[in-house]
Parts: sequence; structure tokens; C-alpha cells
Amino acid sequence: MQKIRKAIIPAAGLGTRMLPISHAVPKEMLPIVDMPAISYLVEEAVKSGIEEILVITNRDKDAMENFFDLNVEYDTTLTAKGKLEEAERLRGIANMANVYFLRQRETKGLGHAVGRARSFVGDEPFIVMYGDDIIFSEVPVCRQLAEVYEKYGRPVVGVKPVTPEQLRKYSSLKVDPTDTERVTFCTDMIEKPKPGCEFSNLSILGRVLLTPDVFDIIDALEPGAGGEYQLTDAMAKMARADGIYALEFEGERFDMGSKLGFLTANITKGLAHPETAEGLREYILELARTLK
Ligand code: UTP
Repeated sequence: MQKIRKAIIPAAGLGTRMLPISHAVPKEMLPIVDMPAISYLVEEAVKSGIEEILVITNRDKDAMENFFDLNVEYDTTLTAKGKLEEAERLRGIANMANVYFLRQRETKGLGHAVGRARSFVGDEPFIVMYGDDIIFSEVPVCRQLAEVYEKYGRPVVGVKPVTPEQLRKYSSLKVDPTDTERVTFCTDMIEKPKPGCEFSNLSILGRVLLTPDVFDIIDALEPGAGGEYQLTDAMAKMARADGIYALEFEGERFDMGSKLGFLTANITKGLAHPETAEGLREYILELARTLK
């Protein structure tokens, strides 16, 4: 079985749910304590053994590229002032992984964004990490998906049971059990199902492992839900043809493209960060006493 070495992070979306901030600051650059959301994705990929990462970006999102570059002025100034730990931390970010950037040019949907990565991917299986889905887990989710791929040799999508309201905003999968716990066999799926069109309460959340045959399917896509080229429609074709696998992954997922996801991710990480844990805990306990 081919090793999973490459990941794509589509991060070119307009982030309309996070307006007004997102028109000036890419939602992928919103902080979780002191690190931008996208750095958690890169870290997860690296911890999963991924060697090459392509971020799909757009003309207003240069801040992402700058974050993974070495800032020589900071490096020189911090070193001169003896702030060696801080300088080392910034160098560590610049050396974290081979991160490449490619502009989508037109925001035509997630499927279209992934389609831009065909020559980067070549003929290898690869992972797509949805740019606004941050997942905190013991075993990085990309690794969890790779393990299922190593067993079955077919595409694998990361799923969770969701509420009926969420199902309508995400996707719904038709699945049958397999002999592996938390792994199901998926034979169809639908993006943003209307009431009555759902298959199950399982939705794809943030991570999918695909094989390169998806690119021909993406190239032949018609616009789907919301008039966008939907990656779900391409994966549905694969599911209907030969079946794919779905893994109910272990981990807590935060939608950084939503205001509530942004706030809860910060509280969760803030309660674990050595500089903020104690103060934030005291603040929350005090605040909770005043809440009804
Ligand atoms: P979303 O639908 O969650 O992102 O796409 P969005 O379009 O930015 O969000 P809203 O609804 O306007 O708030 C899932 C992922 O796909 C990327 C997004 O950046 C996000 O990480 N995406 C989406 C692209 O890269 N290109 C697109 O054309 C659309």
C-alpha cells in the first residue's frame, strides 16, 4: 500500500460566516490562543507523517504564506535582545514542513479548489484537510484515516454523527457496517440534504483521504449545492461506483469558520495553555456563577 505523503489544505473560501473580520483577516489566520488555526492543521499533518502540504489560497490571504516564512527582522532583533527561545520558536514554524501555496483564482467551491492540486498530487493517495476544521485528538486524524486506508486500500472519509440542523448544512452518508469498529462502508452521500433526503446522521467533518482517480471525476463535475463545484458530489460518484470507507474518528472538532467554533476552540486550548490555564479557569468559574 502506498504511504500517504501529501496533504491539501483548501483555504480559499470567503468565510462569509465570519464577516466582518474575514474580509480583512483570513479565517484560517484567526488565533487559537497564540497560534493561527492553520498551524494546527499543518502540525496534525506533520505528526501523521505527511511530508508535503499544499495550501489552496487566494489573492487576499498572503498572511498565511507569511506566517510559514522566516521573518528575518524578527529573527535578528529577537536574537540581538537575547530572546533566543522566541527566535527559535519562529524558526521552528518556518521549518515545520514543506508547505506550498497555490491560488484558486475563482472561489468556485471545495471540489474546484481540490481540483487545482492535480499536478501536486500526481499518482499518489492524499489527504484533504478542510481549512477551517480544527480537530484536537490523541492520535492525529490524518493518521487515523491512513490506518483505515492501509487496511482496505480505498478512499476513507472522516465522519461524526451530527444534529439534524448540522446535517442540512454539511452532508449525509449512506453506510453499512464493516468488521471494524467505527468503520462503515459508504455507498452514497448527499451534500446539504433537504429534509427527507438524508441517508443517515453521519456527516463528513474536515478530513478525507482520496485516491488520484478523483481528479477526472472533479473535472467532469457540474455545479451542485449553492452553485458550487462540490467535493461531496465527486466522492458520491466514487461511493456509488465501488464504495468507499467512513471512519468515525476520535477527536474533538471545532469549526473555525463559525463564531461559536472559534470561541470554543480558544476556551479549550486556553484552559490547557500554561500561560492562560489558571487565569482563564478562574475567570470562567467566576463568570459561571453569574450565568442563568
Ligand atoms: P466552507 O464552505 O466551510 O468555507 O468550505 P467558506 O465558503 O469559506 O465558508 P462560508 O460559508 O462563506 O462562511 C470548506 C473549506 O473549503 C475551502 C474553505 O476555505 C474551507 O476551508 N474552500 C471553499 C476553498 O478553498 N475554495 C472554495 O471555493 C470554497
